[in-house]
Amino acid sequence: MGNKKVLVVGSGGRCHAIVDALSRSSQVEKIYSAPANAGISMQAEAVAIGVEDVEALVAFAKKENIDLTVVGPEASLAVGIVDRFQQEGLRIFGPTKAAAQIESSKEFAKQIMVKYSIPTAAYESFDNYEEAWAYVKARPVPTVIKYDGLAAGKGVVVAENYEEADAALKDMLLDESFGKGRVVIEEFLEGPEFSFMCVVSGEKVYPLAMAQDHKRAYEGDKGPNTGGMGAYSPVPFVTDEVREFALEKIMRPTAAAMVAEGVPFTGVLYGGLILTTEGPKVIEFNARFGDPETEVVLPRLKSDIYELFDAAIDARNCELEWSDEALLGIVLASKGYPASYPKGAVIEGLENLSSTVYHMGTARKEDAVVTAGGRVLMVVGRGATLRKAREQALSDIQKIACDSLFYRSDIGHKVLD
Ligand code: AMP
Ligand code: GLY
Repeated sequence: MGNKKVLVVGSGGRCHAIVDALSRSSQVEKIYSAPANAGISMQAEAVAIGVEDVEALVAFAKKENIDLTVVGPEASLAVGIVDRFQQEGLRIFGPTKAAAQIESSKEFAKQIMVKYSIPTAAYESFDNYEEAWAYVKARPVPTVIKYDGLAAGKGVVVAENYEEADAALKDMLLDESFGKGRVVIEEFLEGPEFSFMCVVSGEKVYPLAMAQDHKRAYEGDKGPNTGGMGAYSPVPFVTDEVREFALEKIMRPTAAAMVAEGVPFTGVLYGGLILTTEGPKVIEFNARFGDPETEVVLPRLKSDIYELFDAAIDARNCELEWSDEALLGIVLASKGYPASYPKGAVIEGLENLSSTVYHMGTARKEDAVVTAGGRVLMVVGRGATLRKAREQALSDIQKIACDSLFYRSDIGHKVLD
C-alpha cells in the first residue's frame, strides 16, 4: 500500500465511483470525502464540509497534508475551488473557474467551437425576446432553445413547434425564470447520443471509455429530463472510426483551443456528443466527470487512477488499460423525482448483491441506510455482454427493498431491445 492521502470533494454516485476507483490504487493510503453519503462513508472517511465551502476545504487539505484533491461537482468549480487550492500550492485535479466556462457558459463553448471548427449545431445567441422570436420564426422546427448559464439541467427546451418555442423564449427572456440572461438557439440535431469523457491536461488528452446516459425519467425515453437514469459502457455504435473522429476532430482540438485562448483546461472534459449522418457533433461540454456515466466507466479502468490524476496535473504520459467487460447501471430514484420527493425512507437488502451499488443520495439514520436525494442508488451489473450486465442489475434490484423508489428497466434499450 502507498502513502498518499486523497480528498474527494462531492457526495453523489460519481464521487462514490471515484472513491471506489481510488481504493483500488496501490499508491493511496487514505481517502477522505467531503461531504460523503452512506455508501461513500464505508470506503472513505467522511468530512462534514460542503462542496462550495472552499476556505474550509483548503484548511482541511493543509491540516491533513492531503497529497491530492479530486473535484466531483460543477458547483465547486464554479466557485473557483481549483484556483484557490493552486494559490495555496495544494495539488488539485480539476479545471480553473475560467476553464470551467466551457460548461457554465454555452456562449463561451459555442464561440470556441465555431472559431476552431469543432463540429456542432449551428446557433445564434440573443438577450432580446423580439430578436430571438424573429430568428426562430424564420427557421424550421424542431428547434433547440438553451438558457445560457447553469440551470440545473432544466435550461434546455427542444421545441417541436413554434408555440413551444415562443413559450420557452418568453419564459427565459421576458419572465426571466432562470434569472436575467441570454439564450442560445440551435439547429436540431438527430442521432444517438453518447458521452466521451477525456482527462485533459493542456494539450494532452487521455481518453476514457465511452458511455451512454439516459436523460428522461421514464421508460421509452418519456417524461421530464433528469440528471440521468442509467448508463452503460462500452457503447457498441461508437465504432473505432467514430471514436477516432471524436478524439481527433473534437476532443483534442478543443483541448488545444483552450490553451490557445489562454484558459488551459486540466480535469475531465466531458463531450456530450451526438452521432449524426455527418459524423459526431457536440451537444454540450461539461468540465467534470458525468453522473451517472462515471459509475460505469471507472470500474472498467484497470490502470491506477491515482497515477492518472497525478500524471495529468503534471502533463506526464499515462497509458490507460481497460477491461473488456460490459457494465450497465440502473438508477433507483425517489418517486416524484425530478420534481419534489420525500426523503428518509429506509432501504434494505443492499448486502450480498452481485452488482456494485454506488450510493447517489443516501444517508445513515441510526443503523439504517435511508433515502436522502432525488437519485438514490445506482445498481451496476457487469458481464461479458451488456445484456448480461443488465440482467444482473435487474435481478439485484428485485432484492432491494424500499417502497419509495422507481427505476427504468429499459436502460440500454437503444442497443439491446
Ligand atoms: P444539454 O443540456 O445541452 O446537454 O441538452 C440536454 C438534452 O437536450 C441533450 O441531451 C439532447 O438530448 C437535447 N439537445 C440539446 N441540444 C440539442 C440539439 N442541438 N439537437 C438535438 N437535441 C439537443
Ligand atoms: N450525465 C450528464 C451529466 O453528468 O451532466
